[in-house]
Amino acid sequence: MLQSLSHHFKCGSSFGLFLSHSLSSVSEEDLTHFRSFLPKSAVLTDAEDLIPFNEDWLKKYHGNSRVVLRPKTTEHVSKILKYCNERRLPVVPQGGNTCLVGGSVPVKDEIILSLNSMNSIRSFDPHAGVLTCDAGCVLENLEVFLAEKDHIMPIDLGAKGSCHIGGNVAANAGGLRLLRYGSLHGSLLGLEVVLADGTVLNEMSTLRKDNTGYDLKQLFIGSEGTLGVITGVSILTPPKSNAMNVVFLSCDSYDQVLRTLEMAKKRLGEVMSAFEFLDDDALGSVLGHMSNLVCPVEERRSFYVVIETSGSNKDHDEEKLMAFLEEVMGDGIIADGVLAQSETQFKDIWALRESISESLNKKGAVYKYDVSLPQSRMYDLVEDIRKRVGSQSLITCGYGHIGDGNLHLNVVFPSFEKKHEEILEPFVYEWVSKEHGSVSAEHGIGYMKPKVLHHSKTWESIRVMKTIKDALDPNGILNPWKVLPEKIQ
Ligand code: FAD
Ligand code: MLT
Ligand code: ZN
Repeated sequence: MLQSLSHHFKCGSSFGLFLSHSLSSVSEEDLTHFRSFLPKSAVLTDAEDLIPFNEDWLKKYHGNSRVVLRPKTTEHVSKILKYCNERRLPVVPQGGNTCLVGGSVPVKDEIILSLNSMNSIRSFDPHAGVLTCDAGCVLENLEVFLAEKDHIMPIDLGAKGSCHIGGNVAANAGGLRLLRYGSLHGSLLGLEVVLADGTVLNEMSTLRKDNTGYDLKQLFIGSEGTLGVITGVSILTPPKSNAMNVVFLSCDSYDQVLRTLEMAKKRLGEVMSAFEFLDDDALGSVLGHMSNLVCPVEERRSFYVVIETSGSNKDHDEEKLMAFLEEVMGDGIIADGVLAQSETQFKDIWALRESISESLNKKGAVYKYDVSLPQSRMYDLVEDIRKRVGSQSLITCGYGHIGDGNLHLNVVFPSFEKKHEEILEPFVYEWVSKEHGSVSAEHGIGYMKPKVLHHSKTWESIRVMKTIKDALDPNGILNPWKVLPEKIQ
């Protein structure tokens, strides 16, 4: 007998009407069905095994799923979704589970559909630089594969050792190289997606130009598992640069950071591949966490900048960098600076930047705000929050992809508590909204931000999003309670 414990939840529709989807819970009969066509190892039900799948990376969101399915093929995914759609069983697609907005874990007892057994590289065309692969390939493994072919992935982020390319696409992740290689909306050439009813949408184009009607793949980039399950990816990979340099600079004020950015755009424009910043609290957190790393400059200052160049001629790039450094030093724009002299120093400087997130996570409960703002106003938000929080937080810091206008404001408390959240929210979102910024620059909406989506999208746009959701997933089984707000005006 099918157990029909139903969750009734409301989802908004146009003009304030609310439709109710009725969702079921997994029964023993459902598990027997999944076991009938999936390998034994692809159906996890042991409570111990489920723990890491039910909890997010920040340990802020906890689901209560009783089963993880790990399909090996697109056909498996199709069969699972067809069945779940008929049975009204909700499903959370999960990649590397590095999501920072609670999108990758269940809210209640949704089935977790993990892509980590779909991890084959399908093809690589060295002339076109086009890679096709399964969605569950770990980003770093793709990097390693491409390095041998003298190519790189157009996306790079601190979570590369765990995150999947499918998760990157579903989240429309930005990362450290967006400044140079643009967003996934530009470098992604094709996708294979399984829709809620099990239909396999083969959009695996390898063409750079293809103007044949609606560009459907774009809909799934940043859809966060709410419109379909991505099973295959076709992506344009840039050639590896012959010459890469990284510099670590220190500044005494945020204004100096902005002037450094302005100067770097002028002097290093065509070779610059990253421009990142961090404040001294962020640096202090990493140095406290990674005993093998040291501050690259002699004295600690208020702010630091990491600039990477990737070009084709080492001498030419170094000449440009040295001229830039002399100018910013000479004009007193920076306090000090170091150009990495070895592969180890290059990696250590990047490790400082990339490990901020992990170091904060080790300190306590991290409230993360990933926002787009005019660069000139970015740090005012961090300062306003510092004043507001006072001595209540363990650490309040700012860092991020300043070259892309993306700030990461992080506030660490000893534990996640409503009273802490209330100091920060909705204050941060209202602040961002007044500046016409975005409440999510790159991490997405997930479970954390549906209620504040309206700060960055009009209700007309949200209603169109809901129309698309209803068309592709009429029973609301895909990642329920994520992205779209419950109440829509
Ligand atoms: P998950 O976390 O598993 O899932 C993310 C979302 O996509 C969820 O909503 C999930 O349901 C959905 N999803 C996952 N796979 C699929 C699929 N195959 N089909 C459909 N939906 C799917 N983000 C940035 O943008 N820039 C950064 O610089 C950055 N750095 C990070 C550094 C660290 C240390 C960490 C922990 C996270 C970072 N992130 C960053 C956040 C995160 O978005 C990325 O790590 C990554 O894109 C998530 O990939 P994932 O495979 O872990 O996806
Ligand atoms: C980063 O840029 O380091 C990531 O987006 C993770 C974070 O915001 O902490
Ligand atoms: Zn980031």
